[in-house]
Amino acid sequence: MDKSDIGVVGMAVMGKNLALNIASRNYRCAVFNRTAEKTAQVMAERGDAAGLVATYSVRALAKALKRPRRLMLMVKAGKAVDETIAHLLPHLERGDIIIDGGNSHYPDTDRRQAELAKKGIRFIGTGVSGGEEGALHGPSIMPGGERDAYRHVDPIFRAIAARTDDGACCTWLGKGSAGHFVKMVHNGIEYAMMQMLAESYDLLRTGLGYDMAEVHNTFAKWNQGRTAGYLVEISALVTSYRDPQTGQWLVDLIQDTAAQKGTGKWTTVAALDLGVPVPSITTAVDARILSGHKAERTAIARVAATKSHWVKGLPAHRLEGAAYAAFLAAYAQGMHLLSRASHEYGYALNLAQVARIWKGGCIIRSRILHLLKTAYTVNPRLPH
Ligand code: ATR
Repeated sequence: MDKSDIGVVGMAVMGKNLALNIASRNYRCAVFNRTAEKTAQVMAERGDAAGLVATYSVRALAKALKRPRRLMLMVKAGKAVDETIAHLLPHLERGDIIIDGGNSHYPDTDRRQAELAKKGIRFIGTGVSGGEEGALHGPSIMPGGERDAYRHVDPIFRAIAARTDDGACCTWLGKGSAGHFVKMVHNGIEYAMMQMLAESYDLLRTGLGYDMAEVHNTFAKWNQGRTAGYLVEISALVTSYRDPQTGQWLVDLIQDTAAQKGTGKWTTVAALDLGVPVPSITTAVDARILSGHKAERTAIARVAATKSHWVKGLPAHRLEGAAYAAFLAAYAQGMHLLSRASHEYGYALNLAQVARIWKGGCIIRSRILHLLKTAYTVNPRLPH
């Protein structure tokens, strides 16, 4: 049987969809998951039809691959990555390439690269953004690590990435943990933009007294202009959706509490370490943590409820201007952090390229990014 071009390890939603995407671009893709049932299930659902090559041991996986082996890990960030690497290692040879496509914390990426280099295994820490849909149809891909190793992966990554009028949303970003650092900051910006949209929603509903249809129309209008982007688009979508069972607006049925998985917090911590102010991102992390304190919030609301129309008379177009400025601030803070980290950690990032590969596929894609790309193209040394 023909050997596979690449192996994907981890058949949860992101890994499965990425593998299907790779296969759809005419690359032969082997797959493996720690729990065999999941692989079998993926094969039965879509994998067989898509031409995925199922393997049920790391040994079989290693045997199925062309050399140098390209192995993309899509497992839970943290110790699962280390455990998976440890299981793979006895079956790999010098020159083989491990790609970590999970949301790994950047210091882990530097550590893993150094440990693997001693064994002759090359390591590429890669951010992947776009959620389930992006993974399947075209994510934004943010690789870092050894450039020579990346050359073996580049054709596949470019083929599966999202495309815009500015090319494939993928480029090698820098050495070491550059890719995972950029992905982390992407997520920090995402936190800030989601918080801004949540606050806009609150101002529209509680402040201006809009009903859901008016809120929907406002977001839909924002998505036609300078604030247009994926998060605004899905805000318009979700405010138009009624729960089929109760007929109520879905947004009204969702509890106003959220957790935070780590990447937002990591961005704030990294910014504090580097002495870069990222107040929009940090405030968003705080707001998420605060939202989780539901019992305290409910108790306080009982004695300190304010339901006044405190922004009555505020024209909605002023809010659009504020949202635009706030989005710009979030991107600017993220870019500032990247430029500082690039200097401090030696990533040598090209910020115009970062803005370019965020223009499609990823969660923070938006019209503003074209502006940023242009600004950094004109002046690559822009400090902010
Ligand atoms: P998602 O959020 O998309 O569901 P995730 O939780 O980030 O995914 O990652 C889940 C994947 O990591 C699964 O493929 C899981 O394997 P199992 O199906 O066997 O649980 C894998 N994973 C988690 N911990 C692992 C470990 N210690 N070793 C190997 N794979 C592991």
